[in-house]
Amino acid sequence: MRCSKPIRPTTSTDDLTARPLSHHREALRRARWGARVAVGAGLFVLAAPIALAVADRAGPTLDLPTRRTDLSTKDRARVRAVTRQTDDFAAAERFEAMPGGGATSTASITRDAFSHPSANLDFEERQTFFVGNGIFKKLWVAAPSSTAASDGLGPLYNARACQRCHLKDGRGHPPDGPDDVASSMFLRLSVPPRTVEEHDALAAFETLRIPEPTYGGQLQNFAVTGLSAEGQMTIDYEEIPVTLADGEVVHLRKPTYGIADLGYGPIDPAVQLSPRVANPMIGLGLLEAIHPADLMANADPDDADGDGISGKISVTRDPVTGDLTIGRFGWKASTPSVMVQSAEAFSGDIGISTPIVTDAFGECSIAQSICRDQPTGVQRRLGDVEAPDPLLGLVTFYAQNLAVPARRDVEDPKVLEGKKLFYEAGCVDCHTPKYVTSRKAEGKAQRFQLIWPYTDLLLHDMGEGLADGRPVGNASGSEWRTAPLWGIGLTETVNGHTYFLHDGRARSLLEAILWHGGEAEAAASRVRDMSRGEREALLAFLESL
Ligand code: HEC
Ligand code: HEC
Repeated sequence: MRCSKPIRPTTSTDDLTARPLSHHREALRRARWGARVAVGAGLFVLAAPIALAVADRAGPTLDLPTRRTDLSTKDRARVRAVTRQTDDFAAAERFEAMPGGGATSTASITRDAFSHPSANLDFEERQTFFVGNGIFKKLWVAAPSSTAASDGLGPLYNARACQRCHLKDGRGHPPDGPDDVASSMFLRLSVPPRTVEEHDALAAFETLRIPEPTYGGQLQNFAVTGLSAEGQMTIDYEEIPVTLADGEVVHLRKPTYGIADLGYGPIDPAVQLSPRVANPMIGLGLLEAIHPADLMANADPDDADGDGISGKISVTRDPVTGDLTIGRFGWKASTPSVMVQSAEAFSGDIGISTPIVTDAFGECSIAQSICRDQPTGVQRRLGDVEAPDPLLGLVTFYAQNLAVPARRDVEDPKVLEGKKLFYEAGCVDCHTPKYVTSRKAEGKAQRFQLIWPYTDLLLHDMGEGLADGRPVGNASGSEWRTAPLWGIGLTETVNGHTYFLHDGRARSLLEAILWHGGEAEAAASRVRDMSRGEREALLAFLESL
């Protein structure tokens, strides 16, 4: 999946070398994207002339509303009142136990806790959800095969089904040891820009990063029979002791990543690796429904208020409209919507083309011609791509409607104490507790809900410790999207492990907090200074989410 890149990495390699630079960049871009969505390749006929627009490098500006455009004045005041941060920790707040609003699942807590549909779907929508679930679980096979509508896998891929990574609709994990093939985690790849064209494409946000010339934007560790996989991710961990103020010693494991068994020759020595585990899938439609003005309200890119925290909106390009927009999904918030993220997953992770990412050969680069020449799973009678409409729409609906489970123990005094500490330590400066979603959200089930995701969806500098050194769009090599915390206390129940952060390096919630640096250093240091009892209360609060 090229979750972090709206432009296909492989084709964008040839785009970047062959693409004409136009002073009518806007028109060219629109034409490109339009054509991309409609017919895929074959659009570089727009051979245009050629003024090197240095001014383009100034970077993009997003024209975002600073005020909720979906609400009446009266509603705006109401929304402001219910979303104001509390300072009363004596009891739980109203509706706090229902983090997904009316969509919250109140089913009893089992391993399936992340797999229930939004509670407020109507009968027909529930049917659509279950059909979408089938596609999410579907095992794709290599073409050609007798199972007509399921072929087209790869040729390069990381997994054969969405569910193989988003295990139980929850999160992935790093491999258990050297013999465990990484299956719910992979490496994203890129190289620094070198040519004027590459710099220019980045500055204009035509692409968010430059793919490695041979291996593309993602390392696929599997390939169909007869082809080599690209290679295998390797991880070395080094244990680092951290001594807390009360004397307790916590060990963090610092990972170093590499690639073994390269299948297509040498890799660029300047390659940048970004390890990612699969995110949990709950509440995504609700995150999509947060109004841009509410994200803007927390953004403070230049830290104008001087609190040391400077969240910024991730800027990305929506391949469907061609427009610049807010990035919300993936660990660096590089994709604009659940649908785009899903289309990129089909392509980059499984090697299946969709109406949004149309290449049947998935992520094979032009340097991997053997891979581009493999049979495809396109069935002309069904459409021009391997997963034609309505498959992408169905899986998107499914992913938008995986319900957030109801909270547990909200009135427990220890949980309430932990909540207070969560506020006092400044965790809420990034992990924004609550929103009321847009009245104009696309999905009915997502409209005008009071939700508690504990994220601002903004990019924050998390310091050198967590840095991957791989910039994407306007996210630097040390910036990450504030991870939503809803449901995090059920990770062990659903997934049987407690590995956290973008690469699963943290083995517990406490380790995850202690990795916080950069803008979050002050918050982490408050946790290091807590007494054991306070730390336990803080963790009890997180476990109740
Ligand atoms: C090989 C493993 C893998 C497969 C298969 C996979 N994903 Fe993912 N998924 C990931 C990873 C890793 C991320 C985080 C990506 C990033 O940060 O760029 C992710 C992120 C996402 C997100 C964003 C979640 C968030 O909180 O931002 C969505 C939505 C998603 N995937 C949907 C899908 C769908 C739909 C499919 C099947 C078509 C799929 N994924 C297949 C690994 C996978
Ligand atoms: C400056 C913003 C910021 C502050 C302050 C902050 N966080 Fe975070 N938090 C993040 C970001 C960004 C991530 C994702 C980092 C990554 O994956 O590398 C994250 C991740 C996490 C995770 C792991 C989530 C997951 O899905 O793996 C936990 C748990 C967490 N934070 C708890 C806390 C607590 C508790 C505090 C207060 C002591 C806190 N955070 C303060 C930004 C912040």
